[in-house]
Amino acid sequence: MSKIKNDLFLRALKGETVQRPPVWMMRQAGRYLPEFMEIKAKYDFFTRCQTPELASEITIQPIRRFGMDAAILFSDILVVPQAMNIEVEMKPDIGPWLPDPIRSADDLDRVIIPEIESSLGYVMDAIKMTKDKLNHEIPLIGFAGSPWTILCYCVQGRGSKNFDKAKEFCFTQPHAAHALLQQITTTTISYLKAKVAAGVDAVQLFDSWGGLLSPEDYQVFSWKYMQQIIDALKSQVPVIAFGKGCWFALDVMARSGASALGIDWTCSARNARYLTGGQITLQGNFDPTRLFSPPSEIKKQVKLMIDSFGKDRYIVNLGHGILPNIPVENAAAFVEAVKEYKEE
Ligand code: CP3
Repeated sequence: MSKIKNDLFLRALKGETVQRPPVWMMRQAGRYLPEFMEIKAKYDFFTRCQTPELASEITIQPIRRFGMDAAILFSDILVVPQAMNIEVEMKPDIGPWLPDPIRSADDLDRVIIPEIESSLGYVMDAIKMTKDKLNHEIPLIGFAGSPWTILCYCVQGRGSKNFDKAKEFCFTQPHAAHALLQQITTTTISYLKAKVAAGVDAVQLFDSWGGLLSPEDYQVFSWKYMQQIIDALKSQVPVIAFGKGCWFALDVMARSGASALGIDWTCSARNARYLTGGQITLQGNFDPTRLFSPPSEIKKQVKLMIDSFGKDRYIVNLGHGILPNIPVENAAAFVEAVKEYKEE
């Protein structure tokens, strides 16, 4: 593997001293970009995911415009249940839509552990094409949803504020829930290993709905499976674990073998450093709605954020995905502020 020219992101993951922290944005390949909307108007969601030319182009769009220090492959966490024979649609204005959600042990009969190359080979093709286009300029991040977050969609059948049906399933049919979580975990491990073989330089696990669980239930229904994935991957690739609303688990996460932990904006830098013991690389945690502030204010706040996390062992990011209606110049100000960063 030849060396990547801008290796700030990989160095931050190793905890090395850097001149400035690296920056990328969760969901950076997305609907706030006019060039993304042009492609979206022509092709439906899964066609964009399944066509390597489109997925690689969409991945690179934000890099071309803003010059982030890492790219994240355009895809979705829900391609995993799809490959497991759970139907997933993406409905305009609704989002994920699963016509036949999992609600019982019987429903698990149709769930399979897929062969990755035949079911998700298109993702590996997109990775190879994206790596070619990136031409060793910056690293490429691959990702997967946490088993818990994927279960949330598989059972609820669509997005939700509290995923009550998913939680009810776990608490009334724990045996079936754990069987499903384990199937998702096993699939995710082979999927991420295939991504590494195809060329991704780091992987991120998105536990977007981990914060809906109590600290005790989080360990049982989410973290246990995240840890299995980290154990299986950590010797091959740096792993970033992001749990939204999961500050209560940061102490355990810091001892997991993950290279970095994602932090959301409800947890201060000081508290995150304290809870994680001050050694592990942290990533985050700008409030995504703060990108509505004028560019000058965004720049001020980014500077303060870097000062409070410290420039080392730190990756600048949002605390969750960028919102669709953020002005492009505000996203630009976020990235510029990091590139202009100087310690005082
Ligand atoms: O970060 C990136 O730029 C890479 C692309 C990416 C997408 N989804 C593309 C996408 C990533 C990393 C994801 C992860 C994802 N998908 C998560 C975890 C991260 C998070 O935001 O919590 C989750 C929970 C999903 C499930 C999902 N996919 C939802 C809830 C939705 C609809 C709501 C929404 O935010 O749009 C999607 C659709 C989706 N995935 C879109 C994009 C760009 C928008 C729809 C479209 O492009 O047609």
